[in-house]
Amino acid sequence: MVKIQDSSRFGVMILAAGLGKRMRSEFPKVLHELSGKPLLFHVLKQVGEVFSGASIAIVVGYGREAVEAYVRQEPLLKNLNITFILQAEQRGTGHAARCAIDSPWGLACVQQKLPILVLPGDLPLISAELIAQMIVPLKKGEALRLLTCRLANPTGYGRLVRKGKSGPALRIVEEKDASHREKEIQEVAVSIYFFDAVCLKSYLQRLSNQNAQNEYYLTDVIGLAQKAKKGIGLLTWKCEDDLKGVNDLWDLAQAAQLMNQRVLRKWALLGVKFLAPLTVRVDVTVELSEGVEVDAGVVLLGKTRINRNTVVGPQVFLKDSEVGENVRLKVGSVVENSQIGAGSHVGPYAHLRPSSQVGSNVKIGNFVELKKSKIGDHTSIAHLSYLGDAEVGSRVNIGCGFVTCNFDGKRKNVTVIEDDVFLGSDCQTVAPVKVGKGSYVASGSTLTEDVPPHALAIARSRQVNKIGYAPKLALREPCPTMAPGGSEKKER
Ligand code: UD1
Ligand code: CA
Repeated sequence: MVKIQDSSRFGVMILAAGLGKRMRSEFPKVLHELSGKPLLFHVLKQVGEVFSGASIAIVVGYGREAVEAYVRQEPLLKNLNITFILQAEQRGTGHAARCAIDSPWGLACVQQKLPILVLPGDLPLISAELIAQMIVPLKKGEALRLLTCRLANPTGYGRLVRKGKSGPALRIVEEKDASHREKEIQEVAVSIYFFDAVCLKSYLQRLSNQNAQNEYYLTDVIGLAQKAKKGIGLLTWKCEDDLKGVNDLWDLAQAAQLMNQRVLRKWALLGVKFLAPLTVRVDVTVELSEGVEVDAGVVLLGKTRINRNTVVGPQVFLKDSEVGENVRLKVGSVVENSQIGAGSHVGPYAHLRPSSQVGSNVKIGNFVELKKSKIGDHTSIAHLSYLGDAEVGSRVNIGCGFVTCNFDGKRKNVTVIEDDVFLGSDCQTVAPVKVGKGSYVASGSTLTEDVPPHALAIARSRQVNKIGYAPKLALREPCPTMAPGGSEKKER
């Protein structure tokens, strides 16, 4: 468990102004989603786990309005104390840090000699544990602590050049500026630093952009600290997965996979059984309970919550929905922004569209669609029906093929079916209409008027039998597309 630190003793700077050219998307990189939340959310969430009420500066630039708007409205980040700093032109990570250190936020850090944790906004898998280890006080004479990692494939990362093989850090060289020999170095830096604020400010003022990208590199402060004969603490991180950065959409896909496996593992250890974990996707915001079982191909998104001992069958899709205990969600069902009470069975292939409320011990069978409908306890809608804008009571039986005709071309109208109603198969209600408590509706009825309680309603034309009439119809031609013997005729 990570100890919460007193935020007044630290500054946190997050670099999030870049466009993310390699993403090949106009959408700001840090807002691309992973497990249901933007990259930037994941970084801020971990920061919030370590610092109480942290004072955080986010450097914004490309798409700043969207980034700021997102952070301001995200309810899960409400407890963080965030300042936005503008980097009007994206001239490199060193320039971004300079914008922050020259701002009133940075001046306050320098004046109060607060150490500053710097994080990039594109490392969504960093953990609170990593942050906690980065912010232990710097040793005397140290200008900074740098996080490094040994990677089997270091391509794309800044390489740490040491004195000799394992001596002190000398500098970081970016991939694009590295010689063949330097490219062979497997120890990399990942843009996570813990700085003495005064040192940081003085090094940032001395950065140059004489390099392959004509950018001001934050990584160059390592060389400057070394030249100033200051100590450079190194924290070597073993878990490569924590440091997976997102620069392109393949990185995003891989980071999403890692995050998803973390989410699944967390729930598995809390008693959730995954039958095919590699095929299941669960957002970080979903909540599951002990005894829940999740089959192959399931997607659980947003604010979904599933209670104890519920079984989620193959290919089920749930978004922003609450599911009670002991529910059976059968293959291929889709549930959005709806609630399902304890002990109910839904599917296979049922579709609960937004604002549907299903009570407890209800049966919603195959190919049933609900929209903005409320279904009472112990009611059965077992086959092939559509209910839109309906209020259905308890212990109601709705036969196969029922349809609420809720739309009159202008507005949606409500159908009310009270408790203990029995609706035969293939009925329709032309809304607005009310079917009274305990009434019985004959199969094939199209109800256009209210049914009084306990009445029998029959709303269909009477059957007429014309005795001896059928042979006259035998003059009909055989069906043109069918050849004798039943095989299909080729059309010319
Ligand atoms: C950077 C490091 C590299 C390291 C890698 C690991 C530099 C020069 N390079 O490269 O050594 O291995 O991270 O993740 O620092 N940003 C701004 N303003 C800018 C440019 C970038 O705010 O002008 C932000 C981006 O939004 C991003 C972060 O800084 O969140 C890192 O930028 P990015 O372009 O991804 O740097 P890398 O090429 O990954
Ligand atoms: Ca990056």
